[in-house]
Amino acid sequence: MKWVYIEDLEKYPEKKVEIRGWVYNKRSSGKIRFLLIRDGTGILQCTMYSADKDSFLFQEFDRLTQESSLILRGVVKKEKRAPGGYEMSIEEMDIIQIAEEYPITPKEHGIPFLMENRHLWLRSQKQHAILKIRSELIKSIRDFFDNRGFRLMDTPILTPSACEGTTTLFETEYFDQKAYLSQSGQLYNEATAMAFGKVYCFGPTFRAEKSKTRKHLIEFWMVEPEIAFATLADIKELGEDLIIYIIERTLDNRQQELEILERDTGPLEAVKKPFPHITYEEAIQILNENNFKMEFGDDFGAPEEAKLAEIYKMPVCVTHFPAKIKAFYMQPADKRPDLVLGLDILASEGYGEIIGGGQRIHDPELLEKKIAEHKLPQQAYKWYVDLRKFGSVPHSGFGLGVERMLSWLCKVKHIRETIPFPRLLYRIYP
Ligand code: 4AD
Ligand code: MG
Repeated sequence: MKWVYIEDLEKYPEKKVEIRGWVYNKRSSGKIRFLLIRDGTGILQCTMYSADKDSFLFQEFDRLTQESSLILRGVVKKEKRAPGGYEMSIEEMDIIQIAEEYPITPKEHGIPFLMENRHLWLRSQKQHAILKIRSELIKSIRDFFDNRGFRLMDTPILTPSACEGTTTLFETEYFDQKAYLSQSGQLYNEATAMAFGKVYCFGPTFRAEKSKTRKHLIEFWMVEPEIAFATLADIKELGEDLIIYIIERTLDNRQQELEILERDTGPLEAVKKPFPHITYEEAIQILNENNFKMEFGDDFGAPEEAKLAEIYKMPVCVTHFPAKIKAFYMQPADKRPDLVLGLDILASEGYGEIIGGGQRIHDPELLEKKIAEHKLPQQAYKWYVDLRKFGSVPHSGFGLGVERMLSWLCKVKHIRETIPFPRLLYRIYP
């Protein structure tokens, strides 16, 4: 008999099939027993009928506990009233294991308890929906870049140098040398962009962030496009296109999951290009007009980012930041060497920065000067400066954080729910 997944049932109308899964819920009503089975792809209502309450199947049914694993065989029919729209009439049932008392019950649990049981929490309906959207999100990102002719380049995770400042580096031993876990694939991407024109890397990145916030993970996934000859304006538009594409794909393919999460999709549907575009200095002025006390050189925190998005009710592009609050590699603005051509895209609905990037320095002497100013070890960046000596061109790119984007898409309160096993400050279990 054919083993099928619940999400594929529509292909097997009125056929006898086999379902392998776990008990989600059960109840009895007279001569009928109802089982809700989940198999990872969906939930199926299954029924047993017997005039004899001591029948073998009913005895087996009575033994079942939540999350017990089993194999069921029977004919599946369309049934409007059943969750998912199908119902199986059980003919055979093989129990694989009777589960111990399951710790996660429908009652409310505290976050520390749920985090301690993350390995089981993943099975809950909302967590399941978020991670299903995550899977779609990652696929949509790959499709977006692959369809536009970008080449995927895998950049190293063990690196000898910092990309995003030295304060959040994870240090490790590399035989007789020091190494760091990658904060970003950008520097290597600049080399692959000079070899392939337009590239992207997509992998885990690491930041020893000492602050406990709703937006920071220690280990997170980032997609980073990099394009030779592209300017700030080019990658701003690319960022807008990427965000819109991800939103469209999610709305098209993950409607059911968004419903489970009770996500009001109105604000996502409203996202249109071009996004409002302001400079850092304009942002400071707008914030001051809205009772924030910001001076030139202050970085935006979560409240400032949320305010800007609230004013525009759209994602907002901010560019031209003070050089001193941005990374060493950023290209200075024309006639304003105190500003750099950085780009941040802030999500709407208070989700803050989802994209960070900009135009890179392409002049070798200027780059060497910046490396010295930032007190970075010249030797470790020799290859990086080399890129500016052999056919240097202006180039630009950005990074989009998968979990930040997903937090916004799903409108979850805390980023920890957007990755199967979050690494957080002081938490590495399970
Ligand atoms: O702004 P960031 O630090 O930029 C870079 O790393 C550049 N080198 C990228 C590039 O130009 N190729 O990080 C980029 C994005 C942020 O906008 C945010 O979405 C995400 O990465 N991010 C984090 N997500 C979760 N937890 C953290 N601790 C994050 N730090 C950054
Ligand atoms: Mg940033």
